[in-house]
Amino acid sequence: MRLLIIGDIVGRSGRRAVKVNVGSLRKEFNLDFVIANGENAAGGKGITEDTARELFSGGVDMLTMGNHVWNKREAFEYIDRETRIVRPANYPPGSPGLGWAVYDMPGHVKVGVINLAGRIFQEPLDCPFRKADEIIARIKDKARIVIVDFHAEATSEKVAMGWYLAGRVSAVVGTHTHVQTADERILPGGTAYITDLGMTGPMDSVIGVKKEAAVGKFITQIPQYFEVATGPFQFNAALIEVSEDTGEAVSIQRIQNYE
Ligand code: FE2
Repeated sequence: MRLLIIGDIVGRSGRRAVKVNVGSLRKEFNLDFVIANGENAAGGKGITEDTARELFSGGVDMLTMGNHVWNKREAFEYIDRETRIVRPANYPPGSPGLGWAVYDMPGHVKVGVINLAGRIFQEPLDCPFRKADEIIARIKDKARIVIVDFHAEATSEKVAMGWYLAGRVSAVVGTHTHVQTADERILPGGTAYITDLGMTGPMDSVIGVKKEAAVGKFITQIPQYFEVATGPFQFNAALIEVSEDTGEAVSIQRIQNYE
């Protein structure tokens, strides 16, 4: 089966990029399932019910989140009831929402999706490596195909997670940095890996925010009001082919489309 996994969708430009690209990619590559990181979809930080619905109607099947999952307080109740959203599983027990889920595909194929957050330069959450072990032990008899979105800042932590889960899941993809890496490969045991999927959002920006404010912060060291940039989009994703029989990844290909 063929899965598309879309890098962090940022603001209005990112949502437009989904609308323009996903339908045609679904047809072109005969996609079975589309996953997207949606933690920056609403105004650059967090998600709302309206923005999530916009992405679902644009052809996204389910959304993963990250460190901005709790930015929109009004969405807590929605995140808690929406089974098409998973947020990092290593948040404290009792947090709203799901940390992983299994989705039914035609032909009795099941796809498990796990969302984890890194701890380097991020919040001090539970150990994502041990949390992965815990979930894999529970998900194994429910889904042969398992995709992990590791939302982390440090490339080292993401590479380490790739090796830690190699041969145990179908894919480990990194999100959060908004810059696509060119290190996609199939790790031993059939695990597709990429350190970061990149960003689906405003191209002429500093990782999604207006470039003037971001540059100003670096020049002056004075806090700036970071506003989401607008204008032409970039669409970053990875296309992954997985064997339904073994759950092993066969190929991974980066996608970069521009407006
Ligand atoms: Fe993030």
